[in-house]
Amino acid sequence: MDAPYPPRSENAAEFAWRHDDVFGRIASRYDLLCDVFSFGIHRLWKRRVARRIAGEPWSVLLDGATGTGDIILRVLAHQTTEGRTIVAADISAPMLATARRRFGAGIKAGRVHLRQLDAEAMPTVSDASVDAYSMSLVMKICDRRRALEEAFRVLRPGGRLVLLEASNIRWRWLHRAYLAYMATCMPVLGWLATGGDASAYKYLLHGIRDFPTAEVFAEEIRACGFHEVDFKRLSLGIVAIHTARKPGT
Ligand SMILES: C[S@@+](CC[C@H](N)C(=O)[O-])C[C@H]1O[C@@H](n2cnc3c(N)ncnc32)[C@H](O)[C@@H]1O
Repeated sequence: MDAPYPPRSENAAEFAWRHDDVFGRIASRYDLLCDVFSFGIHRLWKRRVARRIAGEPWSVLLDGATGTGDIILRVLAHQTTEGRTIVAADISAPMLATARRRFGAGIKAGRVHLRQLDAEAMPTVSDASVDAYSMSLVMKICDRRRALEEAFRVLRPGGRLVLLEASNIRWRWLHRAYLAYMATCMPVLGWLATGGDASAYKYLLHGIRDFPTAEVFAEEIRACGFHEVDFKRLSLGIVAIHTARKPGT
């Protein structure tokens, strides 16, 4: 018999796209939900990570689990991305359809290519074929070890990993207060914003609560073979930008 999928410890939210097409259901409202759940602060986080991604020296960037393309749209706004190629991938066809509409001219100009890919297993992406790999706000809802191993495989030696992910506020009492606040407010906000679809905020809440601290996640990245592992907390540590490099040149 198959092992239980995915193993609990590696998937903080215990989310599996095969079992629940929650992102397909909320694709048209996803950006609104981000504003509601984060009170708009996600825009600041995305601007920061987009600036970081755009500033890296890549010719080919793969953005895994790109969603509606919110971050790649911000990456495209940087002049430094002229003449560079971006592959924006996601497992959800409705999320990709929303991204397609939003990218518009970027797709026509051949700057962005959309692909339906599972970040945990991307057999159609060759080894060492991308210069930079980014993923945002998804490590908590997938098997992060598999996703990190795939990122490592597809990156060329010397390639850059940039992740924006849920993190922890360093002061434990404040982190606990933040979790309590989220556990109280999110069901109400989520219920209103999704018209009663509980999945979206249930996964988000579990993912935030059970995701490792920034220090532990950095160790996990290192354990997958990356070096130059670093992170920077944003908004006191509600999220963090993690960066790393695949060894080699
Ligand atoms: C919280 S959204 C983040 C979207 C985008 N990165 C952003 O920051 O706006 C999570 C996205 O991950 C996608 N996703 C979840 N599991 C995935 C997997 N195993 N492989 C690829 N995409 C996945 C969902 O379809 C959804 O679009």
